Amino acid sequence: MAFIREEFLTELRDRTDIVDLISNYVELKKHGRLSKGCCPFHSEKTPSFTVYEDTQSYYCFGCQKGGDAITFIRDIENLDYVESVKYLAERAGLNMPEDNYDDTLAKKKQRMIYMNKEAARFYHNYMMSPAGKAGLDYWLSRGLSMSTIRHFGLGYAPDDWRMLLNHMRGLGYSESELHEADLAKKSEKNGNVNYYDNFRNRAMVPIIDLRGNVLAFGGRVLDDSKPKYVNTADTLIYKKSLQVFALNFAKSSGEKRLILCEGYMDVIALHQAGFTNAVAGLGTALTDEQVRLISRYADEVILSYDADEAGQNALKKAMDKFQYTDLEVRALSLTGGKDPDEIIRKFGAERFKSIVDGAANEVEYKLLEAKKGLDLSSDDGRVKYMRQVVPILAEIRNAIERDVYTSRISEETGVTKDAIVLQIKDVSARRNRQNQRVDFGKLPVDLKKQTQTKVEKAEETIIASLQNNPDFLKKIDESIRPEDFKSELMRHVYEVLISRLKAGLPADLIYLSSEFTPEEMGHIVRIQTNGQVISNTLSEVMDCIKVMKEDQTKGAVNPSELSNEEFLKLFKQ
Ligand code: UTP
Ligand code: MN
Repeated sequence: MAFIREEFLTELRDRTDIVDLISNYVELKKHGRLSKGCCPFHSEKTPSFTVYEDTQSYYCFGCQKGGDAITFIRDIENLDYVESVKYLAERAGLNMPEDNYDDTLAKKKQRMIYMNKEAARFYHNYMMSPAGKAGLDYWLSRGLSMSTIRHFGLGYAPDDWRMLLNHMRGLGYSESELHEADLAKKSEKNGNVNYYDNFRNRAMVPIIDLRGNVLAFGGRVLDDSKPKYVNTADTLIYKKSLQVFALNFAKSSGEKRLILCEGYMDVIALHQAGFTNAVAGLGTALTDEQVRLISRYADEVILSYDADEAGQNALKKAMDKFQYTDLEVRALSLTGGKDPDEIIRKFGAERFKSIVDGAANEVEYKLLEAKKGLDLSSDDGRVKYMRQVVPILAEIRNAIERDVYTSRISEETGVTKDAIVLQIKDVSARRNRQNQRVDFGKLPVDLKKQTQTKVEKAEETIIASLQNNPDFLKKIDESIRPEDFKSELMRHVYEVLISRLKAGLPADLIYLSSEFTPEEMGHIVRIQTNGQVISNTLSEVMDCIKVMKEDQTKGAVNPSELSNEEFLKLFKQ
């Protein structure tokens, strides 16, 4: 359990303005004491992410994430509690108290980072030694220069079961530590545990985060055997869904546009050819977190996926994800080679540059795709083409842009512009009707008719009232015990709240943050937010206590399900 001195948290609270903090990540619009923006934790086009100045908290009505400043940093920077406090302290210009908190986890992570750095150094040095010639030859055969090899810290893992293990043991790391970092695998036979190197006879690519730490590796076979790559599994310090390969270099390329590729090799080849703004995912479909990270460092992203079907499918999915950001998205169509690496090797950097400069925007890309395989000189081909094109045009929200493309299609096909416009209206109208239906299901959870048992509702109302009116403490404390709470989370929140309030300590969210997970914080903020609307008088709270008590004597038979409004009616009678 992390424990940080109370006075320090108070200072941190006073020096941190949550609106200001979140503005670094989200474009917020002020509405009185509230600020709203599009949620950074899930994809949305209409803002349901709300920041509350009064309670220094935030809550997303779409995905239900919420909390205080520390929770926000925990979630968005993917840091643990102590790391997040440190992060905020640094931002506020405060010195973190050295003692008084448990940093076992932080130390363990730091050690794992050192371990990976040593491993990277080992793989590189081994490659440079006579014994590692096969590895060096491999990279050179891919057209890489020595300076590129050094820049990316490339290496070679020996064709041996224990060479890295032995080396790292010599540096004081245990086999189980290596196993936790996924540098070693473990086998168990007849009760005998055996460790062996995870990466053997592979060309090694270190995966480096934005701070320059080696977190993981990708290891490629030197020939055509399978699997092509062995990658570090997720560990304490590495989540592949959160990293973007080579962003550490690309972020300082001075360009506001990034080239997003599929493979390590594409990125390395592009950097060597001068495109130091190239990055890649890590072998999985692009995640929301990766999209968010990219949008923090770029205004424009150029999708440069492989020319094969798998690559083009992945490209479409990536395009959809970027739709929800304010990034410009363009896509390359690669001809004459299967991926950027091959194009550069075959035709040179100039050719690739001209492909990049001519990259199609989203609409152009979709129109080109629609035309593939169709013969526009035949009536049949033109009709098929129009069928595909109209929905694409209907999706363009900007009227001028839509007009430009409509004219272009009219010229291309000989179909009158009026006829196309009519079709577009038809498709839009149908789509609107459908959206109305679909949207109901997609409504933010809080706005949906939410059913909850009477007791759950009562417990949450008590917690919210206590948070909003600490002076209710005495009366509530006389009437119920923590054990009376059915929900474990509510019981825990109640315990923390009353112990703080009794000791005369403030109960702002920031002080609760160390006791609860980010998910639990989200729940607590939701209760608080609802509570501001629902209950504020002591008699209402006493009614809730009655509900809790009645439920206990009844036993939990047939919990009645109530909506917010129904619940409110109980008190209005
Ligand atoms: P590619 O097969 O396009 O890899 O897979 P590449 O990096 O271009 O490699 P070369 O040019 O064939 O040497 C794209 C990415 O998918 C992941 C890796 O991240 C790779 O860079 N991948 C691929 C794996 O994780 N495992 C595999 O077996 C294959
Ligand atoms: Mn490739």
